[in-house]
Amino acid sequence: MTFSLKQYFATRSEEINACLDRLLPTVGTPPSLLHEAMRYSLFAGGKRLRPILVLAAGEALEGNREYLLPVGCAFEMLHTYSLIHDDLPAMDNDDLRRGMPTCHRKFGDAVAILAGDALLTRAFQVLAELEVPPVLLERKVQVIVELAQGGGTVEGMIGGQMADIAAEGKAVDAETLAYIHRSKTGALIRAAVVSGGLMAGASEAEIATLRRYAECIGLAFQIADDILDVTSTAEALGKTPGKDVAAGKATYPALFGLEASRVKAQALVDEAVALVEPLGRQKEILVALARFIVERPS
Ligand code: IPE
Ligand code: IPE
Ligand code: MG
Ligand code: MG
Ligand code: MG
Repeated sequence: MTFSLKQYFATRSEEINACLDRLLPTVGTPPSLLHEAMRYSLFAGGKRLRPILVLAAGEALEGNREYLLPVGCAFEMLHTYSLIHDDLPAMDNDDLRRGMPTCHRKFGDAVAILAGDALLTRAFQVLAELEVPPVLLERKVQVIVELAQGGGTVEGMIGGQMADIAAEGKAVDAETLAYIHRSKTGALIRAAVVSGGLMAGASEAEIATLRRYAECIGLAFQIADDILDVTSTAEALGKTPGKDVAAGKATYPALFGLEASRVKAQALVDEAVALVEPLGRQKEILVALARFIVERPS
């Protein structure tokens, strides 16, 4: 039977959404406006790529979905917080996200800031409270470190966002651009893949392979995001295209042009595919996900 990535996304997203629903306070729980805003952004849509990567890496190494799912949900919560804050007027000032008005457009800046803070905090609470068998306890602590580093300041998401803002309107060199993309986007993607491996009891060599695979697809993912900002539509993306040029953002198309950016992203994906060759039977999920990173319509 041939593997269908579409089917994989469909079935896993359903499980992820059900798990996210369980892990969040219900809408009516006070302060209800805050919980409404958290749920609004989390359930507005989104590809669920980071939890899917946790699951795919974990399943490739025969990990247990019971533990992979909540770990994936913690990544999606932290990712959604990063989107809410990225869209704020003080940052990218965007009106549309996941096909809906951005969180601050709907609820105001103060609630949006707090909803982001709350999703970030909840992500770590979910991991801290997750009950795992004794053999996975140390692994779970490593996952908490991965999430903190991936979302953090040193070569992590916040560090990358800082560099992204600092680079606005300036000419940056290729090295700085790669740093921005690796950090603001690649770091969390890498942490997700590695965490899937960790929760599946992967060996050090397997983790190292997953780490390198994820570094390739993480950078490719942000290059593809930059390309889509130039070539796609609001309907397809669920966010307003053309914002990067308008804001003078440091992007691959701005520095190298569209075609060279496509070549670079494809080369990274090819490298990722080659890297997971030695992994087990389920590696086809990771291969298909790597290809999806550059072929995706949104
Ligand atoms: C958008 O991420 C922000 C970037 C890191 C480029 P996604 O493209 O994964 O957004 P959702 O989760 O599908 O909305
Ligand atoms: C942001 O990159 C990455 C994050 C950490 C949120 P972008 O600013 O390019 O993401 P989009 O295009 O708004 O989704
Ligand atoms: Mg941004
Ligand atoms: Mg943005
Ligand atoms: Mg973008």
